[in-house]
Amino acid sequence: MKDASPQTIYLKDYTPFGWTAEEVHLTFVLAPSATRVRSRIRFAPNPDAPQQDFFLHGEQLKPISFAIDGAPVSPEITETGLTCAVPEGAFIWEAEVEIAPVENFALEGLYMSNGMYCTQCEAEGFRKITFYPDRPDVMSVFTVRIEGDETVKLSNGNPQGQGDGWAEWHDPWPKPAYLFALVAGDLVNHPGAFTTMSGREVELNLWVRPGDEGKCAFGMEALKKSMKWDEEVYGREYDLDIFNIVAVDDFNMGAMENKGLNIFNSSAVLASPETSTDANFERIEAIIAHEYFHNWTGNRITCRDWFQLCLKEGLTVFRDAQFTSDMRSAEVKRISDVIDLRGRQFPEDQGPLSHPVRPESFQEINNFYTATVYEKGAEVIGMLKTLVGDEAYAKALDLYFERHDGDAATIEDWLKVFEDATGRDLTQFKRWYSQAGTPHVAVSEAFENGTYTLTLKQHTPPTPGQPDKAPQVIPVAVGLLSPNGDEALPTKVLELTEAEQSFTFEGLSAKPVPSILRGFSAPVVLERETSKEERAFLLAHDTDTFNRWEASRDLARECLVAMITEGAEPDTAWLDGLEAVIRDSALDPAYRALMLGLPTQSELAQVLHQRGVTPDPDAIWTATETLKKTRAERWSKLLPQLAEEAKVTEPYQPDAEQSGKRALGSAVLALTSRLDGGEAAKAQFESADNMTLQLSALACLVQAGAGEDALAKFRAQWNGDRLVMDKWFGLQVAASGPSETADRAKALTEDPDFDMKNPNRFRAVMGALAMNHAGFHRIDGAGYQLLADWLIKLDEKNPQTTARMCSAFQTWKRYDETRRGLMKAQLERIAAKPGLSRDVTEMVTRLLS
Ligand code: BES
Ligand code: ZN
Repeated sequence: MKDASPQTIYLKDYTPFGWTAEEVHLTFVLAPSATRVRSRIRFAPNPDAPQQDFFLHGEQLKPISFAIDGAPVSPEITETGLTCAVPEGAFIWEAEVEIAPVENFALEGLYMSNGMYCTQCEAEGFRKITFYPDRPDVMSVFTVRIEGDETVKLSNGNPQGQGDGWAEWHDPWPKPAYLFALVAGDLVNHPGAFTTMSGREVELNLWVRPGDEGKCAFGMEALKKSMKWDEEVYGREYDLDIFNIVAVDDFNMGAMENKGLNIFNSSAVLASPETSTDANFERIEAIIAHEYFHNWTGNRITCRDWFQLCLKEGLTVFRDAQFTSDMRSAEVKRISDVIDLRGRQFPEDQGPLSHPVRPESFQEINNFYTATVYEKGAEVIGMLKTLVGDEAYAKALDLYFERHDGDAATIEDWLKVFEDATGRDLTQFKRWYSQAGTPHVAVSEAFENGTYTLTLKQHTPPTPGQPDKAPQVIPVAVGLLSPNGDEALPTKVLELTEAEQSFTFEGLSAKPVPSILRGFSAPVVLERETSKEERAFLLAHDTDTFNRWEASRDLARECLVAMITEGAEPDTAWLDGLEAVIRDSALDPAYRALMLGLPTQSELAQVLHQRGVTPDPDAIWTATETLKKTRAERWSKLLPQLAEEAKVTEPYQPDAEQSGKRALGSAVLALTSRLDGGEAAKAQFESADNMTLQLSALACLVQAGAGEDALAKFRAQWNGDRLVMDKWFGLQVAASGPSETADRAKALTEDPDFDMKNPNRFRAVMGALAMNHAGFHRIDGAGYQLLADWLIKLDEKNPQTTARMCSAFQTWKRYDETRRGLMKAQLERIAAKPGLSRDVTEMVTRLLS
């Protein structure tokens, strides 16, 4: 939708809709370019709402006919919806519209993917299907009839009947329109079954395109595990007779929790050992869980308005993280989540796109499905749980489900439940929802007469529209270690509520070494001036596995910063300390693999910027390369031994144990490839019988500049597999050196298999370009220009995916004048494009502000 003057929507302006929708009947007569949608809705005046015109959202709909109580009416129709005179009491609204799913490349509303009809209605896609009060606080019971020749025709709820060319569905649970879904196509089913805790039988189906049957088993098992886990941990039972999942190739996001009919990007559900990596399997298990968990946190209890998005997303991300921790390794999951938070949410919160977990205004809601709403939103729930304790958390959640089942709720409702369940005043805690920015916590210490004092000072830098910040409630988990490495004080949670606050610990025989922010108990930047020796001590002795990893990460960061800014040599004391950890075969291989990771180049750029140094992407790249090479040389004797330990002899399983070993193995292979020019990687590539090994070997070969043969072989082997070919496209850009990245990406956009209309393929290339730090920031601006060229092209088809990818430019202000100027010029070029979508307009405006 081209919109010249985008409207800003404010949280403070919330008003309820003037009517309730008591029943919705929809009939779809499917045809690719002329689908007819008939709606019959019973509206009744909403006694809680102020007087207002009867307005229904509707976009890109061809009106056919309208009637109220059976009599034709002529509403006034604009680009965004219709208004109509209506009777004073309840009435029956009927409308018929025509839409063209085959021309819908925005992948929002009803569209087609490989000849199959599917929908995506969150957040505001239903208005592209028919005229409706398309807002989450209008909930109704839907009955849907689908007419068409497709063998499979699905909608929400339970099947109500079917015959030649038609199928009917009824969803007894009132729901907002964003949870509506319809799928029709010639699909095949991977069936399953689940018996709920109260003994009800649920039919489970995973619908895929013919040919993908062999990639369903894992997803089905993940679904059953999720259903069981939600019963055991949250007491939540499934509430329909049937649960359908459908895989589609063209999808903007990962997956969508439509009631009883989840729709998944095929990359987020289809998996087999030959075609999917361990990381793919883990992500699939998590996404299936996430969408399933929304059945309670999102569907049974939904959001009053889109400002409350974190109510369902933050909580559901928190729940899926708990699930993954239970299914796999909690320590590995926590470290991975923190890496992700620092890699995506911190840059967002420290740049022009910074916004609160609950934003107060937006132009296009699709632009607020962000790392802040999701990941920081989940961190906020984790802090709440830490502060009130596990038992009180469980009690509060029971109360939440009891009190708000069937509601469209708010963050105020959520916090009230915790206040009522615990008696705690959460007024100050609520700032986590309204204040943007990453708080910094500075630590200082003192020791005198057996008393140890920790002083914590908090400060949050200004963010757009929020120059001054008030102190927040920050749970700081702390442990103290004795100089001999024993634990002097087990983990204790300090509650930092003031701008500055001191905490004392008495009766200590010697000055302890503090282990602060254990388990990353709050999403903050910890500022602590301390010695390398102390960090090395924590690396060797900390009983908190997160902080042990963090100690190494701190040392790695300091080592790289010194290399970049002072031309220092790699820190050998750290490398020795790290070696002791990775040699320790009592430790989980997955944990050791994480220990081998380095801060990303983008993270280093951010650290330098924070310290007042303009980051030079080439210098950062060079230092990182030098360090990798040094590590490989220094550990050359150890590597074969580790490779041996990482070998899996049993048949492939994507479980935590085996994938941990393979993760260690691929970290070792990456180091080995720096010594042998790719020889070991070549051997692994040739003999691999699963995608994890094949792809990690291919990455090493491309990285070593010896990948051309293997790339050709890989392509020949996997040409027919869209998802594997996405890897082929992405990896080349991700693993190429800084001078080639942009050219490589450009060449790939000219490949006959590059399809910009498929978001997975587009992201494979353009996402990898944006993520290759030194490559994207090539000093001649080729990376910026290429990305901008394609964003401009894609915007005409798919504004949502385009807008999300604009965030590649979110750190533009931190670089040198040349790069800053080049990036700014590209942003201005995008902004100047005639007919630019509302989505992208909002993004570039915020980026440039
Ligand atoms: N409700 C979202 C999907 C969505 C996002 C729809 C934005 C429309 C606009 C879904 O529950 C979700 O959050 N999916 C995530 C994956 C999840 C594991 C965090 C996704 O699609 O990336
Ligand atoms: Zn979600």
